[in-house]
Amino acid sequence: MSKIILTGDRPTGKLHIGHYVGSLRRRVELQNAGGFDKIYIMIADAQALTDNADNPEKIRQSILNVMLDYLAAGLAPEKVTIFIQSGVPQLAELAFYYMNLVSVSRVQRNPTVKTEIKMRNFEESIPLGFFCYPVSQAADITLFHGTVVPAGEDQKPMIELTNEIVRRFNSIYGEVFEETSILLPENAVCMRLPGTDGKAKMSKSLGNCIYLSDSAEEVEKKVKSMYTDPLHLRLQDPGHLEGNAVFTYLDAFCRPEHFAAYLPEYANLDELKDHYTRGGLGDMKCKMFLLKIMQEFLTPIRERRAMWEQRLPEVQDILRRGTEEAYRVGEATMEQVRHAMRIDYFNGGLSL
Ligand code: TRP
Repeated sequence: MSKIILTGDRPTGKLHIGHYVGSLRRRVELQNAGGFDKIYIMIADAQALTDNADNPEKIRQSILNVMLDYLAAGLAPEKVTIFIQSGVPQLAELAFYYMNLVSVSRVQRNPTVKTEIKMRNFEESIPLGFFCYPVSQAADITLFHGTVVPAGEDQKPMIELTNEIVRRFNSIYGEVFEETSILLPENAVCMRLPGTDGKAKMSKSLGNCIYLSDSAEEVEKKVKSMYTDPLHLRLQDPGHLEGNAVFTYLDAFCRPEHFAAYLPEYANLDELKDHYTRGGLGDMKCKMFLLKIMQEFLTPIRERRAMWEQRLPEVQDILRRGTEEAYRVGEATMEQVRHAMRIDYFNGGLSL
Protein backbone atom coordinates (compact mmCIF):
# COMPACT_ATOMS: atom_id res chain seq x y z
CA MET A 1 0.00 0.00 0.00
CA SER A 2 1.21 3.51 -0.80
CA LYS A 3 2.01 5.88 2.01
CA ILE A 4 0.25 9.13 1.24
CA ILE A 5 0.04 12.20 3.43
CA LEU A 6 -2.84 14.61 3.25
CA THR A 7 -3.13 17.58 5.52
CA GLY A 8 -4.01 21.23 5.34
CA ASP A 9 -5.02 24.51 6.92
CA ARG A 10 -7.94 26.88 6.78
CA PRO A 11 -6.83 30.13 5.18
CA THR A 12 -8.20 32.62 7.68
CA GLY A 13 -5.04 34.64 8.26
CA LYS A 14 -1.30 34.38 8.39
CA LEU A 15 0.21 31.33 10.06
CA HIS A 16 1.80 31.71 13.49
CA ILE A 17 4.38 29.84 15.55
CA GLY A 18 1.61 27.61 16.93
CA HIS A 19 1.06 26.32 13.40
CA TYR A 20 4.81 25.93 13.08
CA VAL A 21 5.40 23.70 16.13
CA GLY A 22 2.03 22.00 15.78
CA SER A 23 2.32 20.99 12.14
CA LEU A 24 4.59 22.88 9.73
CA ARG A 25 7.88 21.82 11.32
CA ARG A 26 6.74 18.18 11.16
CA ARG A 27 5.64 18.46 7.54
CA VAL A 28 9.03 19.77 6.53
CA GLU A 29 10.75 16.91 8.39
CA LEU A 30 8.48 14.34 6.74
CA GLN A 31 9.09 15.91 3.35
CA ASN A 32 12.85 15.75 3.85
CA ALA A 33 12.87 12.24 5.33
CA GLY A 34 11.37 11.05 2.04
CA GLY A 35 9.47 8.03 3.44
CA PHE A 36 6.22 8.89 1.66
CA ASP A 37 5.02 8.22 -1.86
CA LYS A 38 3.14 11.49 -2.00
CA ILE A 39 2.49 14.53 0.19
CA TYR A 40 -0.55 16.74 -0.39
CA ILE A 41 -1.02 20.01 1.45
CA MET A 42 -4.44 21.54 1.01
CA ILE A 43 -5.41 25.14 1.53
CA ALA A 44 -8.92 24.52 2.86
CA ASP A 45 -10.71 27.58 1.52
CA ALA A 46 -14.05 25.77 1.16
CA GLN A 47 -13.84 24.68 4.79
CA ALA A 48 -12.86 28.21 5.85
CA LEU A 49 -16.01 29.46 4.16
CA THR A 50 -18.19 27.21 6.32
CA ASP A 51 -17.95 29.76 9.12
CA ASN A 52 -16.90 32.79 7.08
CA ALA A 53 -19.53 32.77 4.37
CA ASP A 54 -20.04 36.51 4.76
CA ASN A 55 -16.36 37.32 4.58
CA PRO A 56 -14.93 35.84 1.38
CA GLU A 57 -12.38 38.62 1.02
CA LYS A 58 -10.64 37.50 4.23
CA ILE A 59 -10.23 34.01 2.79
CA ARG A 60 -9.04 35.34 -0.57
CA GLN A 61 -6.41 37.52 1.06
CA SER A 62 -5.13 34.69 3.18
CA ILE A 63 -4.35 32.39 0.26
CA LEU A 64 -1.06 33.95 -0.80
CA ASN A 65 -0.09 34.59 2.81
CA VAL A 66 -0.54 30.94 3.71
CA MET A 67 1.35 29.94 0.55
CA LEU A 68 4.23 32.23 1.51
CA ASP A 69 4.20 30.88 5.08
CA TYR A 70 4.42 27.32 3.70
CA LEU A 71 7.32 28.12 1.41
CA ALA A 72 9.02 30.19 4.10
CA ALA A 73 8.71 27.34 6.60
CA GLY A 74 10.60 25.14 4.15
CA LEU A 75 7.97 23.17 2.25
CA ALA A 76 9.54 22.48 -1.14
CA PRO A 77 7.31 22.69 -4.22
CA GLU A 78 9.21 19.87 -5.92
CA LYS A 79 8.53 17.52 -2.98
CA VAL A 80 4.96 18.36 -1.97
CA THR A 81 1.79 19.17 -3.88
CA ILE A 82 0.08 22.27 -2.56
CA PHE A 83 -3.44 22.91 -3.81
CA ILE A 84 -6.65 24.82 -3.20
CA GLN A 85 -9.64 22.87 -1.95
CA SER A 86 -12.24 24.68 -4.06
CA GLY A 87 -10.16 23.98 -7.18
CA VAL A 88 -11.02 20.29 -6.75
CA PRO A 89 -14.83 20.13 -6.97
CA GLN A 90 -14.63 16.33 -6.78
CA LEU A 91 -14.16 16.90 -3.04
CA ALA A 92 -17.65 18.38 -2.81
CA GLU A 93 -19.03 15.57 -4.93
CA LEU A 94 -17.53 12.87 -2.70
CA ALA A 95 -18.61 14.67 0.48
CA PHE A 96 -22.16 14.76 -0.86
CA TYR A 97 -22.24 10.97 -1.13
CA TYR A 98 -20.50 10.50 2.23
CA MET A 99 -23.30 12.46 3.89
CA ASN A 100 -25.56 9.50 3.22
CA LEU A 101 -23.29 7.28 5.26
CA VAL A 102 -23.28 9.35 8.47
CA SER A 103 -26.12 10.17 10.86
CA VAL A 104 -26.80 13.65 12.20
CA SER A 105 -26.42 12.37 15.76
CA ARG A 106 -23.01 10.91 14.92
CA VAL A 107 -21.75 14.36 13.91
CA GLN A 108 -23.48 15.97 16.91
CA ARG A 109 -21.48 13.70 19.22
CA ASN A 110 -18.17 14.73 17.64
CA PRO A 111 -16.29 16.48 20.48
CA THR A 112 -14.35 18.77 18.13
CA VAL A 113 -17.52 19.93 16.43
CA LYS A 114 -19.14 20.47 19.85
CA THR A 115 -16.35 22.74 21.11
CA GLU A 116 -16.11 24.60 17.83
CA ILE A 117 -19.84 25.29 17.83
CA LYS A 118 -19.55 26.69 21.38
CA MET A 119 -16.46 28.73 20.47
CA ARG A 120 -18.23 30.38 17.56
CA ASN A 121 -21.42 31.12 19.52
CA PHE A 122 -23.59 29.62 16.78
CA GLU A 123 -26.25 28.66 19.37
CA GLU A 124 -29.26 27.46 17.37
CA SER A 125 -28.14 28.75 13.98
CA ILE A 126 -25.26 26.47 13.04
CA PRO A 127 -24.62 26.72 9.29
CA LEU A 128 -25.37 23.31 7.81
CA GLY A 129 -22.14 23.46 5.84
CA PHE A 130 -20.18 24.02 9.03
CA PHE A 131 -21.97 21.14 10.73
CA CYS A 132 -21.00 18.86 7.84
CA TYR A 133 -17.35 19.83 7.71
CA PRO A 134 -16.11 16.64 9.41
CA VAL A 135 -17.74 14.70 6.57
CA SER A 136 -16.13 16.96 4.01
CA GLN A 137 -12.82 16.44 5.77
CA ALA A 138 -13.24 12.68 5.33
CA ALA A 139 -13.61 13.38 1.60
CA ASP A 140 -10.45 15.56 1.65
CA ILE A 141 -8.39 12.73 3.03
CA THR A 142 -9.81 9.83 1.06
CA LEU A 143 -10.11 11.45 -2.38
CA PHE A 144 -6.30 11.40 -2.38
CA HIS A 145 -6.15 7.93 -0.78
CA GLY A 146 -4.43 9.55 2.19
CA THR A 147 -3.12 7.04 4.70
CA VAL A 148 -1.40 9.39 7.14
CA VAL A 149 -2.71 12.70 8.46
CA PRO A 150 -0.22 14.70 10.52
CA ALA A 151 -2.42 16.76 12.85
CA GLY A 152 -3.05 17.73 16.44
CA GLU A 153 -5.00 15.74 19.03
CA ASP A 154 -8.12 17.83 18.31
CA GLN A 155 -8.34 16.19 14.88
CA LYS A 156 -8.59 12.65 16.30
CA PRO A 157 -12.40 12.48 16.17
CA MET A 158 -12.19 13.53 12.50
CA ILE A 159 -9.93 10.62 11.68
CA GLU A 160 -12.20 8.21 13.54
CA LEU A 161 -15.17 9.45 11.55
CA THR A 162 -13.18 9.16 8.32
CA ASN A 163 -12.43 5.53 9.05
CA GLU A 164 -16.06 4.79 9.90
CA ILE A 165 -17.07 6.26 6.55
CA VAL A 166 -14.36 4.29 4.74
CA ARG A 167 -15.54 1.02 6.30
CA ARG A 168 -19.17 1.79 5.53
CA PHE A 169 -18.40 2.82 1.94
CA ASN A 170 -16.26 -0.24 1.26
CA SER A 171 -18.80 -2.62 2.73
CA ILE A 172 -21.66 -1.24 0.63
CA TYR A 173 -19.94 -0.41 -2.65
CA GLY A 174 -16.78 -2.53 -2.60
CA GLU A 175 -13.19 -1.82 -1.66
CA VAL A 176 -12.22 1.62 -2.92
CA PHE A 177 -10.73 3.40 0.08
CA GLU A 178 -8.16 2.63 2.73
CA GLU A 179 -8.24 3.56 6.39
CA THR A 180 -6.08 6.38 7.55
CA SER A 181 -4.13 7.16 10.71
CA ILE A 182 -3.26 10.33 12.54
CA LEU A 183 0.36 11.29 13.14
CA LEU A 184 0.47 13.35 16.34
CA PRO A 185 3.29 15.78 17.22
CA GLU A 186 5.93 14.04 19.39
CA ASN A 187 6.00 16.79 21.97
CA ALA A 188 2.72 17.23 23.88
CA VAL A 189 3.12 20.99 24.39
CA CYS A 190 3.35 21.44 20.64
CA MET A 191 -0.27 20.44 20.23
CA ARG A 192 -1.59 23.71 21.43
CA LEU A 193 0.81 26.54 22.06
CA PRO A 194 -0.78 29.21 24.29
CA GLY A 195 -0.84 32.87 23.33
CA THR A 196 1.89 35.25 24.46
CA ASP A 197 -0.60 36.44 27.11
CA GLY A 198 -0.84 32.92 28.55
CA LYS A 199 -4.40 32.40 27.24
CA ALA A 200 -5.05 28.89 26.02
CA LYS A 201 -5.29 29.70 22.33
CA MET A 202 -3.43 32.00 19.97
CA SER A 203 -5.92 34.06 18.08
CA LYS A 204 -5.74 37.07 15.86
CA SER A 205 -8.58 38.81 17.70
CA LEU A 206 -6.78 38.47 21.04
CA GLY A 207 -3.58 39.90 19.52
CA ASN A 208 -1.51 37.23 21.28
CA CYS A 209 0.12 35.54 18.29
CA ILE A 210 3.66 35.56 17.04
CA TYR A 211 3.40 35.27 13.27
CA LEU A 212 5.97 33.55 11.07
CA SER A 213 6.04 36.79 9.09
CA ASP A 214 6.70 39.07 12.11
CA SER A 215 9.82 41.22 11.89
CA ALA A 216 12.70 40.65 14.32
CA GLU A 217 11.60 43.81 16.19
CA GLU A 218 8.00 42.63 16.52
CA VAL A 219 9.14 39.26 17.83
CA GLU A 220 11.40 40.96 20.36
CA LYS A 221 8.60 43.19 21.60
CA LYS A 222 6.18 40.30 21.89
CA VAL A 223 8.60 37.98 23.71
CA LYS A 224 9.69 40.68 26.15
CA SER A 225 6.08 41.37 27.13
CA MET A 226 5.08 37.72 27.48
CA TYR A 227 2.99 36.49 30.37
CA THR A 228 5.01 34.66 33.02
CA ASP A 229 4.09 34.23 36.68
CA PRO A 230 2.14 37.05 38.34
CA LEU A 231 3.38 35.89 41.78
CA HIS A 232 7.03 36.18 40.76
CA LEU A 233 7.49 39.80 41.82
CA ARG A 234 10.99 39.91 43.25
CA LEU A 235 13.97 38.07 41.83
CA GLN A 236 14.37 35.93 44.94
CA ASP A 237 10.72 34.80 44.96
CA PRO A 238 10.08 31.22 43.85
CA GLY A 239 8.60 31.16 40.34
CA HIS A 240 5.83 28.95 39.02
CA LEU A 241 5.95 27.06 35.76
CA GLU A 242 2.27 26.19 35.55
CA GLY A 243 0.59 28.48 33.02
CA ASN A 244 3.86 30.36 32.48
CA ALA A 245 3.92 31.04 28.75
CA VAL A 246 7.69 31.58 28.59
CA PHE A 247 8.35 28.10 29.96
CA THR A 248 5.68 26.54 27.78
CA TYR A 249 7.40 28.04 24.74
CA LEU A 250 10.76 26.82 26.01
CA ASP A 251 9.25 23.33 26.30
CA ALA A 252 8.20 23.59 22.67
CA PHE A 253 11.32 25.16 21.14
CA CYS A 254 14.35 24.67 23.35
CA ARG A 255 16.94 21.98 22.74
CA PRO A 256 20.03 21.23 24.89
CA GLU A 257 22.35 22.78 22.26
CA HIS A 258 20.61 26.11 22.78
CA PHE A 259 22.02 26.18 26.31
CA ALA A 260 25.54 25.62 25.04
CA ALA A 261 25.08 28.45 22.55
CA TYR A 262 23.13 31.04 24.53
CA LEU A 263 23.00 30.18 28.23
CA PRO A 264 25.96 27.98 29.13
CA GLU A 265 25.51 28.31 32.89
CA TYR A 266 22.72 25.71 32.60
CA ALA A 267 23.05 22.31 30.97
CA ASN A 268 19.39 21.85 30.10
CA LEU A 269 15.84 23.04 30.62
CA ASP A 270 15.38 21.05 33.83
CA GLU A 271 18.23 22.97 35.47
CA LEU A 272 16.75 26.28 34.35
CA LYS A 273 13.32 25.28 35.65
CA ASP A 274 14.84 24.19 38.98
CA HIS A 275 16.49 27.56 39.45
CA TYR A 276 13.32 29.41 38.48
CA THR A 277 11.10 27.49 40.93
CA ARG A 278 13.72 27.79 43.72
CA GLY A 279 13.85 31.55 43.26
CA GLY A 280 16.69 33.83 42.21
CA LEU A 281 16.16 33.69 38.46
CA GLY A 282 14.57 36.68 36.75
CA ASP A 283 11.89 36.54 34.06
CA MET A 284 13.84 38.78 31.71
CA LYS A 285 16.79 36.39 31.59
CA CYS A 286 14.46 33.56 30.57
CA LYS A 287 12.75 35.77 28.02
CA MET A 288 16.05 36.82 26.45
CA PHE A 289 17.04 33.16 26.16
CA LEU A 290 13.71 32.30 24.55
CA LEU A 291 14.07 35.27 22.22
CA LYS A 292 17.45 34.02 20.95
CA ILE A 293 15.99 30.58 20.28
CA MET A 294 13.00 32.07 18.48
CA GLN A 295 15.08 34.36 16.32
CA GLU A 296 17.33 31.44 15.43
CA PHE A 297 14.46 29.54 13.81
CA LEU A 298 12.48 32.55 12.61
CA THR A 299 15.37 34.30 10.81
CA PRO A 300 15.71 31.75 7.98
CA ILE A 301 11.91 31.64 7.68
CA ARG A 302 11.79 35.43 7.41
CA GLU A 303 14.55 35.40 4.79
CA ARG A 304 12.89 32.73 2.68
CA ARG A 305 9.61 34.66 2.87
CA ALA A 306 11.30 37.82 1.64
CA MET A 307 12.82 35.84 -1.23
CA TRP A 308 9.45 34.37 -2.30
CA GLU A 309 7.75 37.75 -1.95
CA GLN A 310 9.94 38.86 -4.84
CA ARG A 311 8.61 35.98 -6.92
CA LEU A 312 4.85 36.11 -6.46
CA PRO A 313 3.95 35.03 -10.02
CA GLU A 314 6.00 31.88 -9.44
CA VAL A 315 4.23 31.31 -6.11
CA GLN A 316 0.86 31.51 -7.86
CA ASP A 317 2.13 29.16 -10.52
CA ILE A 318 3.13 26.56 -7.92
CA LEU A 319 -0.36 26.73 -6.48
CA ARG A 320 -2.04 26.54 -9.89
CA ARG A 321 0.02 23.54 -10.98
CA GLY A 322 -0.57 21.80 -7.64
CA THR A 323 -4.30 22.37 -7.97
CA GLU A 324 -4.30 21.01 -11.52
CA GLU A 325 -2.53 17.89 -10.35
CA ALA A 326 -4.93 17.46 -7.42
CA TYR A 327 -7.85 17.85 -9.83
CA ARG A 328 -6.53 15.01 -12.01
CA VAL A 329 -5.99 12.73 -9.03
CA GLY A 330 -9.42 13.64 -7.64
CA GLU A 331 -11.13 12.90 -10.94
CA ALA A 332 -9.42 9.51 -11.18
CA THR A 333 -10.68 8.61 -7.70
CA MET A 334 -14.19 9.84 -8.52
CA GLU A 335 -14.25 7.62 -11.60
CA GLN A 336 -13.59 4.67 -9.29
CA VAL A 337 -16.27 5.94 -6.90
CA ARG A 338 -18.94 6.50 -9.56
CA HIS A 339 -18.26 3.04 -10.92
CA ALA A 340 -18.39 1.44 -7.46
CA MET A 341 -21.61 3.32 -6.66
CA ARG A 342 -23.21 2.22 -9.93
CA ILE A 343 -23.76 5.82 -11.04
CA ASP A 344 -21.44 5.76 -14.06
CA TYR A 345 -24.45 5.42 -16.33
CA PHE A 346 -22.84 6.33 -19.64
CA ASN A 347 -19.88 4.05 -19.16
CA GLY A 348 -20.99 0.69 -20.54
CA GLY A 349 -24.57 1.68 -21.26
CA LEU A 350 -27.87 1.34 -19.44
CA SER A 351 -30.23 -1.57 -19.79
CA LEU A 352 -33.64 -2.49 -18.51
N1 TRP B 1 -9.44 21.29 9.76
C1 TRP B 1 -8.12 21.67 9.36
C2 TRP B 1 -7.77 23.04 10.04
O1 TRP B 1 -8.62 23.65 10.61
C3 TRP B 1 -7.95 21.85 7.88
C4 TRP B 1 -8.30 20.63 7.09
C5 TRP B 1 -9.30 20.50 6.17
C6 TRP B 1 -7.66 19.36 7.17
N2 TRP B 1 -9.32 19.25 5.67
C7 TRP B 1 -8.34 18.53 6.25
C8 TRP B 1 -6.61 18.84 7.93
C9 TRP B 1 -7.99 17.20 6.09
C10 TRP B 1 -6.26 17.51 7.77
C11 TRP B 1 -6.95 16.68 6.85
O2 TRP B 1 -6.67 23.49 9.96
